[in-house]
Amino acid sequence: MKIEGRLNKLVSVVTGGGSGFGESIGQAFAREGARVVVADLHAENGRRVADAIVVAGGEALFVRTDVSLAADMKNLVEATVARFGRLDVMVNNAGISHVNQPMLAVTEEFFDRLYAVNVKSIYHSAVQCVPIFRRQRGGCVINIGSTAAVRPRPGLCWYNGTKAAVNSLSKSMAVELASDKIRVNAINPALGETPLLATFMGGADTPEVRARFLASIPAGRLCRPSDVANAAVFFADPASEFVTGVCMEVDGGRCI
Ligand SMILES: NC(=O)c1ccc[n+]([C@@H]2O[C@H](COP(=O)([O-])OP(=O)(O)OC[C@H]3O[C@@H](n4cnc5c(N)ncnc54)[C@H](O)[C@@H]3O)[C@@H](O)[C@H]2O)c1
Repeated sequence: MKIEGRLNKLVSVVTGGGSGFGESIGQAFAREGARVVVADLHAENGRRVADAIVVAGGEALFVRTDVSLAADMKNLVEATVARFGRLDVMVNNAGISHVNQPMLAVTEEFFDRLYAVNVKSIYHSAVQCVPIFRRQRGGCVINIGSTAAVRPRPGLCWYNGTKAAVNSLSKSMAVELASDKIRVNAINPALGETPLLATFMGGADTPEVRARFLASIPAGRLCRPSDVANAAVFFADPASEFVTGVCMEVDGGRCI
């Protein structure tokens, strides 16, 4: 019997791969045999993640990328194909949020940045990836949404809207691209143990605030990066070839 990883030799890109969920997705993909391109605005973190994968015996490359810029996304995909010869899985994970606050306290400038990073990035990504996937007769896109899309929290109005867009775009892309054997799915994590947590909580991760958020998750704990990474491996796995247009909660029951 030949034992291979579930993602054997698949060439994958993980945006926002230098931290949190993205870091864990890159590590899990590499453990399953994928070749991983870590894309992040934060060069030190992105390089650290890519180096750790290589040290552990995997194949990885870091490409500094601002996902809100068309030129950076073009460079990212070109660098991926130049190094590994193809592209199989695109994980659009990079994201930001405004601090939990009243909706009118968010400036127009930050609103534009939020939509550029969380939503327009998916357009830039599609422009670069879809032609390659069509040429290769297949491909996989995984967008990181949020339970915020399905069950919005107060204080996160504009962020919630970006994630609703991520869910809708995932289904819209899935239906348009299905005949090209390009699958598009989304993962909706609950509040997670990453550096973004304090932003969602409103700036202070105190035991009282944490207890209030935990009370809203039936499973009684926050989402771990490994929870999201395991779901991403499921979607990226060629065995999931009939799974498309799914926005899957990974949320310990938060959205029930
Ligand atoms: N942590 C949570 O509670 C939670 C819950 C649901 C969904 N999410 C989503 O999960 C995704 C990952 O978030 P996380 O919690 O791991 O946060 P994180 O801050 O730990 O990681 C996000 C990464 O994205 C990078 N990044 C930010 N802007 C970028 C840009 N313009 N171009 C490239 N990289 C950029 C950051 O440098 C960072 O490395 C986001 O889309 C977020 O909205 C997070």
